[in-house]
Amino acid sequence: MQFAFPKTVIAQHTIQQILSRIDIVEIVGSFVKLKKRGTNYLGLCPFHNEKSPSFTVSPSKEIYKCFGCGASGNTISFIMEHEKYSYVEALRWLAQKYNVEIEEKEVSAEVKQQQQLADSLFIINNFAREYFSHNLLESEEGQNVGLAYFEERGFTKETIQKFQLGYCSNERDTFARTALSKGYNLDYLQKTGLVAIRNEQPADNYRGRVIFPIHNQSGKVLGFGARILVKNDRAPKYINSPENEIYVKHKVLYGTYFARHSIDRLNECLLVEGYTDVISLHQAGIENVVASSGTSLTVDQLRLIKKYTNNLTILFDGDNAGVKAALRGLDMAVEEGLNVKLVLIPDKEDPDSYVQKIGAPAFRQFVADNKQDFVLFKLQTSMQEAGNDSTRKSQLVNEIAETISKIDKVEDFTRQQDYIRQCSQLLKIDEQGLIMLVNKFIRERLQKREQQLARNAPPDDDNALSDEAIAAMEAMETGVEVVFSTDEKQEKELVKILLRFGDMQFSEEDHNTVADYVFHLPYDFESLADSEIVKKILREYKSLYDGGNTPDRKWFLYHQDPDISKNTALILEDKEADLSVNWKERFEIDTVYGDNAYLKDTISTTNYLILRKIKKLILENQQEMEKADTFDVQMKCIEVHQHLKQLEMELTQGIGTVIFR
Ligand code: UTP
Ligand code: MN
Repeated sequence: MQFAFPKTVIAQHTIQQILSRIDIVEIVGSFVKLKKRGTNYLGLCPFHNEKSPSFTVSPSKEIYKCFGCGASGNTISFIMEHEKYSYVEALRWLAQKYNVEIEEKEVSAEVKQQQQLADSLFIINNFAREYFSHNLLESEEGQNVGLAYFEERGFTKETIQKFQLGYCSNERDTFARTALSKGYNLDYLQKTGLVAIRNEQPADNYRGRVIFPIHNQSGKVLGFGARILVKNDRAPKYINSPENEIYVKHKVLYGTYFARHSIDRLNECLLVEGYTDVISLHQAGIENVVASSGTSLTVDQLRLIKKYTNNLTILFDGDNAGVKAALRGLDMAVEEGLNVKLVLIPDKEDPDSYVQKIGAPAFRQFVADNKQDFVLFKLQTSMQEAGNDSTRKSQLVNEIAETISKIDKVEDFTRQQDYIRQCSQLLKIDEQGLIMLVNKFIRERLQKREQQLARNAPPDDDNALSDEAIAAMEAMETGVEVVFSTDEKQEKELVKILLRFGDMQFSEEDHNTVADYVFHLPYDFESLADSEIVKKILREYKSLYDGGNTPDRKWFLYHQDPDISKNTALILEDKEADLSVNWKERFEIDTVYGDNAYLKDTISTTNYLILRKIKKLILENQQEMEKADTFDVQMKCIEVHQHLKQLEMELTQGIGTVIFR
């Protein structure tokens, strides 16, 4: 069998040409009848059945969103979903619509190879999915064994079809032989884990098991989980696909493809352990649910959830054994800014068995009634442990105050106040007292940091106190709202500046653009940035800029990588990412640049990021100096120190532009 791989890609300037022509109202309007409502447009959602319109299109944000089913996206994702096109197919469709001539370019050999491999694995998985599904529904063994098993577990035909469940016959190599006879490559079949070599012959790896395909966010099959049907102590309950070019376990959550709209609409994600939990809850009409597949959550998985919602509710199985261990890992989720809630499913049950036992309405009610905040849950558990021991109790108060003091993200400020109120009630202590205690921790860390700076020692991370924390502390005492200027916001501000003003003129003398200015500074902002998404966007922006095609906002808004398109929309929208007043005041540059605010923003933002880097370098150099054992090295360090201090001074005085030219 021969596969047709794309040997060319659409040239970047063609894509830019297409994107610059996009008019979301026109495109969506050619599929959906839209009526103007204020600044937006309204129509009947094409993605679900409805009688009164809840599908809106925003021309200014260039997005659509359905308040009924949660479908949302930009013009390209609309065409992709509506016409079931790939990203490239959607581009071609638009090119035709707008009469843009497509120029194609050869893809590099290396990229081509990776693409081909990934495509081959997807194609094989898709073939296997169809094969196993057909086998389950049509073959005698499939019906008698596989289908009977699913039916016994209460799964309906619709559910089985929706989740594309399958069955692999209990024979040595039926699947392997079929796949090979159709021309599928043996190496790739092994890479997907579908086929293994046993006694030097290809053999089915999932024989006699029911099959759960694992989908990516757009519904393509990344891999499989294959469950044994009879309990067997010598064989694992599930065999899962091995990691390969397309299946990277720590980035995948089972069920995201089926759950994404519902998560978006309900603004909450339920997390369970198993494939069957996801499926049963879906069947019961609870669709905002994904599974961790029995492993502890990774940062990548948390970020996957964060794309859709900040509210994560974890349903723990009744056996309780895993809860303690899981609680430890969940600090990470709190740090990521997720609101984590826990629900303990009663003894000996899991979400699958419990929803089947008590029914969907009772299950929903149970979750609603038993949702506990993670931090409070932790506090309660430790309080139970402490009992009447008063020493242990006061220890606890201190611990919880310290935890609360560490919540220092801007958007978490209200949450911090909530915690203080609730924890003081739980602990039966005075709320003002707890506020003071929390502030004491913040202040202590502040003092420590200052002392460290005075001793020229680098601050240890644990004691590092962000500007936000200080501001939050002040706000807590005075009740005043604070304007925050955080590092991440500055990084995002740089992206925003480039996307909005990248090709605007920077200086009168030499026709430099804003992008020229940014990329000719002797600093690489991609490596200066901490935020992964900022890095990703800057990297791509820079490579396009280097190739002579300065991209605009549409390039990123309509990006194939949903992480990029979604975040670009957020960055462009985020008014708070604008510079804080304080910061502008520190650079006295207003007078120099008159009304061109974007020039001021460009300079102060790049200066901020450079200054941050210089501060880091100063600290590193100081460490170096302390370790130095020869006079020469010490002198060298002192020179470097003086130079860096000079740079720092010039930057903070707002004349930084001159020295970096
Ligand atoms: P469970 O043992 O709870 O399985 O493991 P389950 O999904 O509820 O299946 P049933 O209801 O007993 O049939 C939870 C998850 O852990 C992973 C699977 O992803 C499973 O869904 N797991 C479990 C494995 O990967 N391998 C195993 O051997 C067992
Ligand atoms: Mn189960």
